[in-house]
Amino acid sequence: MATKLLTLLLFLAFYLGSPTTVHRKLLVFLLDGFRHDYISDEALESLPGFKEIVSRGVKVDYLTPDFPSLSYPNYYSLMTGRHCEVHQMTGNYMWDPNTNKSFDIGVNKDSLMPLWWNGSEPLWVTMTKARRNVSMYYWPGCEVEILGVRPSYCLEYKNVPTDTDFANAVSNALDSFKSGKTDLAAIYYERIDVEGHHYGPSSTQRKNALRAVDTILQHMLKWIQERGLQDTLDIILFSDHGMTDIFWMDKVIELQDHINLSDLLQMKDRGPVVSLWPVPGKHSEVAHKLKLVEHMTVYEKEAIPTRFHYKKGKFVSPLTLVADEGWFITEKKETLPFWMNSTGKREGWQRGWHGYDNELMDMRGIFLAYGPDFKSNFRAAPIRAVDVYNVLCNLAGISPLPNNGSWSRVACMLNGHPSEAHLVQLSSCALAFLLLLLFVQQI
Ligand SMILES: *[C@@H]1O[C@H](CO)[C@@H](O)[C@H](O)[C@H]1NC(C)=O
Ligand SMILES: *[C@@H]1O[C@H](CO)[C@@H](O)[C@H](O)[C@H]1NC(C)=O
Ligand SMILES: *[C@@H]1O[C@H](CO)[C@@H](O)[C@H](O)[C@H]1NC(C)=O
Ligand SMILES: *[C@@H]1O[C@H](CO)[C@@H](O)[C@H](O)[C@H]1NC(C)=O
Ligand SMILES: *[C@@H]1O[C@H](CO)[C@@H](O)[C@H](O)[C@H]1NC(C)=O
Ligand SMILES: *[C@@H]1O[C@H](CO)[C@@H](O)[C@H](O)[C@H]1NC(C)=O
Ligand SMILES: [Zn+2]
Repeated sequence: MATKLLTLLLFLAFYLGSPTTVHRKLLVFLLDGFRHDYISDEALESLPGFKEIVSRGVKVDYLTPDFPSLSYPNYYSLMTGRHCEVHQMTGNYMWDPNTNKSFDIGVNKDSLMPLWWNGSEPLWVTMTKARRNVSMYYWPGCEVEILGVRPSYCLEYKNVPTDTDFANAVSNALDSFKSGKTDLAAIYYERIDVEGHHYGPSSTQRKNALRAVDTILQHMLKWIQERGLQDTLDIILFSDHGMTDIFWMDKVIELQDHINLSDLLQMKDRGPVVSLWPVPGKHSEVAHKLKLVEHMTVYEKEAIPTRFHYKKGKFVSPLTLVADEGWFITEKKETLPFWMNSTGKREGWQRGWHGYDNELMDMRGIFLAYGPDFKSNFRAAPIRAVDVYNVLCNLAGISPLPNNGSWSRVACMLNGHPSEAHLVQLSSCALAFLLLLLFVQQI
């Protein structure tokens, strides 16, 4: 009898105390390359979906990305709350001299090595470890085993998911919430970034991509009501960085005009931020020659400004070049990253880019949120990419790991009631404990 009761109580303690009782669900959107002013008050007039979300929830003036204002570094700052030099994802292209392995965005298998990813623990890993189900759609890196863990569901990234893919992901995520299969769904959308690169941030093509997202968000608002999820689901939309115009006709820096390229052991990335590893013995000569070049700054590793929170990264190169806004650094014009336009050849010019100094206005992104835990029709002051993590943890009922986010910059957007999730967890633990005490006293 006593054993039976003990088993029951232990089960109760485990079941009630386990985080599966948390009520709040979280739907997160990562909209790549979404500059803050794409949803200015004026732009919102022709975006009914976004306008509705803004009026129902919270909009910050802008989100300042981490340096460099590139995708992978910021995907990780958003999901770890840590600066790049802390989480170690310091570029879209990285090189590890110790293993001679490269991380090259989207193209090589070596990018999936834990080496690049397990410098920090992203939220989806922490949640999965806590036996919470996470569904990720096209989110770069969800297929990677990070610190030994993969999310319960990962629809792998592919080169530019379509608008139909995006709509299907939204509807699938809502179904998973409805059936209780998932606690956090995270959806990645890339086309706003792609069109911004190809045609420029002010182009019709970029605006059309945004309109496509807007249409799907309008459907989403309806689908949420239909599934009765409006009181349990918080929705958060953010971007990794913005976009600015570039000018390949006259703002390209060709390194071959200034140094002998054979003096480089390795060069990573082209554009606003370039990493160089000079061959041994050539460091000073290369650095000296490049420091004479206009429209860019050459940093020795130790001299990189502290405000970039970048220089301590273990994959940071001995020399880092940072271009002035609008300028583009490459070895020579032939190696510029052309894209395949409708001619079917790699000859299309890029019109937009990002990666520059993260304090530049054009590099800034968005943060929007609505749902039961957020204030309604609330304009918040600017936040930084590292601040987002604490919001996500709070809503998901997860204790945040040590991070670089500021709670005071984000607390104001929450509606003030202590998160129901925490209460449920706390009260079930307390209940189980009381029952156990009662039982112990009886024997
Ligand atoms: C490093 O890797 C590159 C590309 O895989 C290769 O060409 C080069 O020879 C390697 N270097 C060394 C020192 O192994
Ligand atoms: C992370 O990956 C690196 C390289 O594979 C490995 O040396 C390191 O032990 C890993 N760390 C953890 C905590 O798994
Ligand atoms: C969580 O995900 C796992 C793996 O996909 C699945 O087996 C399990 O049923 C899910 N949990 C719930 C509560 O649906
Ligand atoms: C560049 O360096 C290589 C290797 O050190 C050398 O053979 C070549 O002559 C140099 N080119 C110029 C233009 O100095
Ligand atoms: C493709 O790109 C090149 C270079 O920007 C341009 O000259 C050409 O007109 C483009 N072709 C089409 C069909 O867009
Ligand atoms: C960022 O957070 C890490 C982890 O808590 C900490 O070690 C580091 O000192 C922080 N950096 C700054 C600039 O606060
Ligand atoms: Zn981009």
